[in-house]
Amino acid sequence: SSKKKIGQAIHAYYREFGRDLPWRRDPSFYPVWISEIMAQQTRMEVVVSYHQNFMEALPTIQDLADVQEEVLLKLWEGLGYYNRARNLKKAAQEIVYIRKEVPKSYEELLSLPGVGPYTAAAIASIVYGQAYVALDGNLSRIFSRLLAYDGDIGKAQAKEDLTSFGQEIMGPDPSAFNQGLMDIGSKICLPKDRALCPSCPLKAYCLAYQEGSVAKYPVKAPK
Ligand code: ADE
Repeated sequence: SSKKKIGQAIHAYYREFGRDLPWRRDPSFYPVWISEIMAQQTRMEVVVSYHQNFMEALPTIQDLADVQEEVLLKLWEGLGYYNRARNLKKAAQEIVYIRKEVPKSYEELLSLPGVGPYTAAAIASIVYGQAYVALDGNLSRIFSRLLAYDGDIGKAQAKEDLTSFGQEIMGPDPSAFNQGLMDIGSKICLPKDRALCPSCPLKAYCLAYQEGSVAKYPVKAPK
C-alpha cells in the first residue's frame, strides 16, 4: 500500500541521509532529553555545540541535579529561555531523589517539568522505540502537504488528524520515522515556496506536489 511505502521511504532516507547528531549514536534518555529541550527554540547547528559542552560539564543526571544555578546558567548562556535550564535541573532532582529511576513511559515523560506532548513523544520514540508521532512544525508541514490537508493547523482537530495519519504510516521503527521526518523537514520540505520537491523521497506520494500547491500548506488561519 502507499501508506506502507511512505513509511519505508522515510526509513530509507534516514538510513542514507540522516544527520550525524551526537546523541543519535547513543540514544539514551539523558542526552536525548537534553537535546530535545535545547532544540525547542534553537537551531540544530547551535544545539550540537551546546549539547557537547553541556554533556562534558554534566555527564550524568546526578551531576545536573546537583549543579549550582550559576554554573547551569553559564552552560545555557546564549540559548535564551533560561526557564528551560531551571526546569531541567528541577526534573533531574525529581528523577534522582524522588523517583529514583528515569521516566520510561509517555505519561511519565509528560509529567516532567518542561516536557510537553511533542517532547514526550520524541523521547519515547527515540530512546525507547515507542510508537508515538513527534508532531512538531516539520512533521505538520510534511503531513499536511502529503495529504493536501486543508484544515487549520492551529486547531486541535488538525493535530489529531495529522497525528493519526502519522500513526498509520509509521512502520516498525518509530525513532527512524520521527527523526527521518525532522531531517526531511529541515533539509527538503522547507516552508512556504522554498521546498526542494525534486529531491524529496516522498514526492511520489505527495498530493500537494502533484497538484502544484505545496506552498499553500500547512493552512494557517490568521488569529
Ligand atoms: N529537532 C528536534 N529533535 C531532533 C532530532 N532528534 N533530530 C533532528 N531534528 C530535531
